[in-house]
Amino acid sequence: MEQLRVCVIGTGSISDMHLASYANNLHAVLYGVYDFSKERAEEKARKYGIEKVYDSLEAVFDDPHVDAVSICTWNNTHAEISIGALKSGKHVLVEKPLSMTVEEAVMVEEAARKSTKTFQVGFVRRFATNTRVLKSFIDQGKLGEIYYAKASCLRRLGNPGGWFADQARSGGGPLIDLGVHIIDICWYLMGRPKVKSISGNTYRQLGNRGNVGNLSFYKAADYDQGKNTVEDLANALITFENGASLLVDVSFTLHAKKDEIQVKLFGTKGGAELEPELVLISEENNTILNIHPQMDHLSFDFSNAFQNEIDSFVESCLSGIEPVAPVADGVEIMKILAGIYEAAEKKCEVRF
Ligand SMILES: NC(=O)c1ccc[n+]([C@@H]2O[C@H](COP(=O)([O-])OP(=O)(O)OC[C@H]3O[C@@H](n4cnc5c(N)ncnc54)[C@H](O)[C@@H]3O)[C@@H](O)[C@H]2O)c1
Repeated sequence: MEQLRVCVIGTGSISDMHLASYANNLHAVLYGVYDFSKERAEEKARKYGIEKVYDSLEAVFDDPHVDAVSICTWNNTHAEISIGALKSGKHVLVEKPLSMTVEEAVMVEEAARKSTKTFQVGFVRRFATNTRVLKSFIDQGKLGEIYYAKASCLRRLGNPGGWFADQARSGGGPLIDLGVHIIDICWYLMGRPKVKSISGNTYRQLGNRGNVGNLSFYKAADYDQGKNTVEDLANALITFENGASLLVDVSFTLHAKKDEIQVKLFGTKGGAELEPELVLISEENNTILNIHPQMDHLSFDFSNAFQNEIDSFVESCLSGIEPVAPVADGVEIMKILAGIYEAAEKKCEVRF
């Protein structure tokens, strides 16, 4: 049986989802790890029984035994490591976002075009059970033409600090961290329409609210209450060439009653809510029906989605089939994210 030898680059929080999923995949071998914190890389190597702990990126790239890499580093290094890995003849799965700027994204696309290897972007929500089920209904035409979508991911208190709150390493706040997922999932389910114009706003009104007590939230390993250079709220209206539109808002902190996530799609024949729970809406016999699928996971099933994402990547690498989240999609999503930041900064609509 042919097996894909994989090296995971960046062995922080999310790497565990990649490592555990490769470990479960019979067609993959966890061959190596690299992190510029060698201690962290060695800890994962012990946990997953991995043979090689590399001392540098070059050592990973130069090792002919490595067939593929999963890039789980901070956003500021996604493009550079992706290009280096492609040039060394490796297949690449890179965590979202593809890069920090459109210029970088286009350079990665160029490198991917020159390579014969698989390049996949970590749009993990595409692989969730509820997404796959909804996509099958959409592909059968049950929603008709989707002309409006609405997505919201609001944290009332949830700026993780550390690199997430450092513009230079993250490229931005909730928009690039959370918005990337909900914008992508709407865009993917809407049939990937070309973006026409964007209006947007970003706000830095509340800071990281590190002063708030009695309520816990996820903090990065290098959390520092005194350091925060990213927005705390962003919203946008994205209009596509086919006339469809997407309304989105995301926050790291906001004076909201509770955290919430909503993903809603509205079509000519029916509608759907993907989050917080999958529901389909239709009209039959002059009656509106809310249809509740009977499934184990109606909401985003985190570990199954990662397993599906890794399985799909391994299959693409070994068989050559087009990945579910190709580099071109990463570039389009970067255009949208950068367009929102630009519209907010210029305080006017951005046209493509
Ligand atoms: N798909 C998802 O749902 C999801 C969830 C969380 C994070 N992420 C993405 O995963 C990436 C990592 O996030 P995290 O939460 O694991 O961060 P983290 O800080 O926990 O881990 C990142 C690791 O990368 C290492 N690193 C950074 N730059 C490096 C470089 N150039 N070379 C070698 N090692 C380097 C750091 O030392 C650290 O150990 C981010 O891009 C983030 O957007 C995706």
